[in-house]
Amino acid sequence: MFTKYKETEEYGFEVLKKIILRRIGLDCNYYRDSYLRRRIDLRMKNYGLNSYWDYMKILINNEDEWPSLIRDLTVNYTSFFRDPDVFFYFKTRILPVLLSNKRVIRILSAGCSSGEEPYTISMIINDVLKSNVNKYLISIYAIDIDECALNKAIIGEYEERVVEKISRSYIQKYFIKVNGKYKVSGCVRRLVHFKNMDLTQGVKYRNLDVIFCRNTFIYFSPEAQNKICMDFYNALNHNGYLILGKTEILPEKVADKFICIDNERKIFQKI
Ligand SMILES: C[S@@+](CC[C@H](N)C(=O)[O-])C[C@H]1O[C@@H](n2cnc3c(N)ncnc32)[C@H](O)[C@@H]1O
Repeated sequence: MFTKYKETEEYGFEVLKKIILRRIGLDCNYYRDSYLRRRIDLRMKNYGLNSYWDYMKILINNEDEWPSLIRDLTVNYTSFFRDPDVFFYFKTRILPVLLSNKRVIRILSAGCSSGEEPYTISMIINDVLKSNVNKYLISIYAIDIDECALNKAIIGEYEERVVEKISRSYIQKYFIKVNGKYKVSGCVRRLVHFKNMDLTQGVKYRNLDVIFCRNTFIYFSPEAQNKICMDFYNALNHNGYLILGKTEILPEKVADKFICIDNERKIFQKI
């Protein structure tokens, strides 16, 4: 009976998850199986394969396949001011409360991809505070598991099509045109600290005022979502804010630890 199972695609999928964990440290058990299958199937289609076993042979014999698999496992789509109303809420309702109460402000962008989200937050803060920004100690920690995306974030240079939805005045103030690309200016970069981190391995920061974890959550299994949300709860200051993606929901197990202050924008506050 077990021998039969060992030949199945089901078992192949489990073995593949183990190989991924051993090779790149990504624990697939934290992700939804349906999501993983969709992403791995994409890679297999590339080779005209429909067996996990055959795909494993490619991974074993071809080192170059690994970066492509990592890229496809981590959906990196992002944009500056993604869901502008969320950032408008942050600018007009959350930031003024923080600025009136404290001098040290700590924000986390969890799943920051190529940097558009943390740089958006930094531009807003610079725009609100102007030269007073130096009177505060503001840190925006930006973490992602995908090194490739993080390297782009650290370089901070974007094609014209990437910045085209940003207002003209922000472009003028916060970007420098270099070789046809738009480079994020020093005052915006200065607040942002990038780090390669896996959210499923715990949140290493404490005393955070706001956590943006947008469009990252949906890929995790319900258990992982519970664990990560509990970590967020512990990492936040009293009354700290948690901002999820618009299609994401707070797991039931932690629902009593936060109040929802804006359901459309998925903004929660730690009780
Ligand atoms: C779709 S992007 C969202 C980017 C941005 N937050 C936004 O809303 O535009 C999701 C990001 O989460 C990252 N990610 C996935 N699993 C992760 C993990 N375990 N730890 C840290 N980041 C992860 C991916 O690499 C990807 O860059």
